[in-house]
Amino acid sequence: MNVALINTVKESFINKFQTEPMLIFSPGRINIIGEHTDYNDGFVFPAAVNKGIIAAIQKSDSNTSKAFAVDKQEVVEFNLNNLKPMAQGSWQNYILGVIAEIQNRSKTIGNFNIAFGGDIPGGAGMSSSAALENSVVYGLNELFKLDLSKHDMILISQKAEHNYVGVKCGIMDQYASMFGIENHALLLDCRTVTSTPFEINFKDHELILINTNVKHSLSDSAYNDRRSVCESISEMLKVKALRDATEFDLQGIKDKITPENYQKALFVIQENNRAVRASQAMKADDLETLGKLIYASHDGLQNQYKVSCEELDFLVEQARLNGHVLGARMMGGGFGGCTINLVAKNEAESFKASASKAYKEKFNKDCSIYAVELSNGTHVIN
Ligand code: GLA
Repeated sequence: MNVALINTVKESFINKFQTEPMLIFSPGRINIIGEHTDYNDGFVFPAAVNKGIIAAIQKSDSNTSKAFAVDKQEVVEFNLNNLKPMAQGSWQNYILGVIAEIQNRSKTIGNFNIAFGGDIPGGAGMSSSAALENSVVYGLNELFKLDLSKHDMILISQKAEHNYVGVKCGIMDQYASMFGIENHALLLDCRTVTSTPFEINFKDHELILINTNVKHSLSDSAYNDRRSVCESISEMLKVKALRDATEFDLQGIKDKITPENYQKALFVIQENNRAVRASQAMKADDLETLGKLIYASHDGLQNQYKVSCEELDFLVEQARLNGHVLGARMMGGGFGGCTINLVAKNEAESFKASASKAYKEKFNKDCSIYAVELSNGTHVIN
């Protein structure tokens, strides 16, 4: 865990609010495979990582509450009885949204102060937003003894994202961040919201993230658009979600939908299958197959679902050119953020160096490379 970050957040809280806080770590996540399948009731394969949000939180006897974003050095003061969303894109909405959703469940909280900081850059596709939402709901649950289960809490975080942030996200990010298990990835069934843990030990291979350091605008509306396409096609197919459809079913309505939407739905059906097949490949220690599925996932995200971008495609292309990268793909919602790469350990350094150099030459900006450890989900730090 990032001790420097913990100390910074704790000291910032004490300086501002003159009292000892409770400290919470809430992780970001990676996703091995299964992208844009979560809101189709399908399978995803995420893991919580050792980077995320540190929150310091404590009750307050003042008649307002305050949230302090340590990285931005910005404070917001609010009245618990009069919450409404702020401008789109403001960090405050993650916090206000969680409180509003707790109140919607007829749970009562008192005034409090919170300070938070993180070590995942926003827009990296590693769910810093779910990490923040989870840290808030987890902290409030502890402070005010709300008796919420972890399942309740992730649904509150998700609803905050829907109603205050404006992104109709699935449940993957909040689940992975809350339920993560050290050294494990979770094969999550997003219909039942239950998961099977897989111990991750790729032996002579490892996962590396490369952040494009870009986040293209309009990604939120593009995300919501994709979701509504999936929902309308499920309706036409008379299934609850695309998870219940086969390629054959889809073929049956091909002439009733646009070729673009056909490809999108086809991607979801195929990606859902890939997530399941990836878990089987992992059980069989078959990294070659896992890698091929990861590359195929990128192809689909790029060409069928159309949520990639030039920078992500370029980094995946660099991986393909290198015989020691078994698989690479964009990760998360898309339009920027990170690629995830399955790389031979003894070739990792040279891949990192050559990909960084090529990226700089092509885009005249730096990419960032992260090694991650798989971590436990949201918890109080002693
Ligand atoms: C974002 C959303 C998730 C999921 C991914 C794409 O991270 O928050 O719910 O849909 O995109 O797989």
